[in-house]
Amino acid sequence: MNLAIQPVRPVDVEAIAALAREIWQDAYAGIVAQAQIDYMLEQRYNAPRLLEELAKPGYWWDQAAVDGERIGFSSCHLTGAPGELKLDKLYVLPARQRGGVGGALIGRALEHGRAAGCDTLVLAVNKQNARAIAAYEKHGFAVRESVRVDIGGGFIMDDFIMARSIPQAARPSSETDSGWKPPFPGGESDTGEA
Ligand SMILES: CC(C)(COP(=O)(O)OP(=O)(O)OC[C@H]1O[C@@H](n2cnc3c(N)ncnc32)[C@H](O)[C@@H]1OP(=O)(O)O)[C@@H](O)C(=O)NCCC(=O)NCCS
Repeated sequence: MNLAIQPVRPVDVEAIAALAREIWQDAYAGIVAQAQIDYMLEQRYNAPRLLEELAKPGYWWDQAAVDGERIGFSSCHLTGAPGELKLDKLYVLPARQRGGVGGALIGRALEHGRAAGCDTLVLAVNKQNARAIAAYEKHGFAVRESVRVDIGGGFIMDDFIMARSIPQAARPSSETDSGWKPPFPGGESDTGEA
């Protein structure tokens, strides 16, 4: 599988919203009402909001492609709590799930967090979303708390907050005493670790 993870660009926002709808229908149809799916998609994936987030400091959107086909995306942002990054979205096409794409996108979020000096990656997941909870556990997250959030429109999100640590990049033990510098500053990659 020739997997590429790239930043989402303004020109991609319509395709990302369409991908979100396709994945949400599969993931949430048995968990939340259709009216809530429609409400949340409109609230979170309207073009002005996506474009605003793409331009906002402390926000990162990434997309995954295999052989040029867009198959998933993720977004994360600083929460304002010291050292904390939130994985806000993580979506992979049903036919491409369980192939490591979700893990690779989590790996990219860890890279953003590390570069921003964060030590903790948090997320919210619907308590009934067993598939995603299993994926997050596989990738090192554990449940931290249980929350019920009123999102307006008469809808409630009944979620677990999960968290994992953001490992710092390994450095050669000689770095501090030899003046060693990484050959490609900021270019270290741990995409496979999550
Ligand atoms: C959560 C999600 C992004 C994971 O992406 P992915 O590409 O499948 O992730 P990975 O391949 O890295 O990890 C898959 C792991 O998730 C778990 N998992 C995934 N689907 C599962 C299922 N149907 N039943 C049980 N465990 C499952 C397993 O631990 C699996 O590892 P395994 O295949 O080695 O057993 C993907 O399932 C998805 O898009 N789900 C629908 C949208 C969603 O719920 N997003 C999360 C919103 S909070």
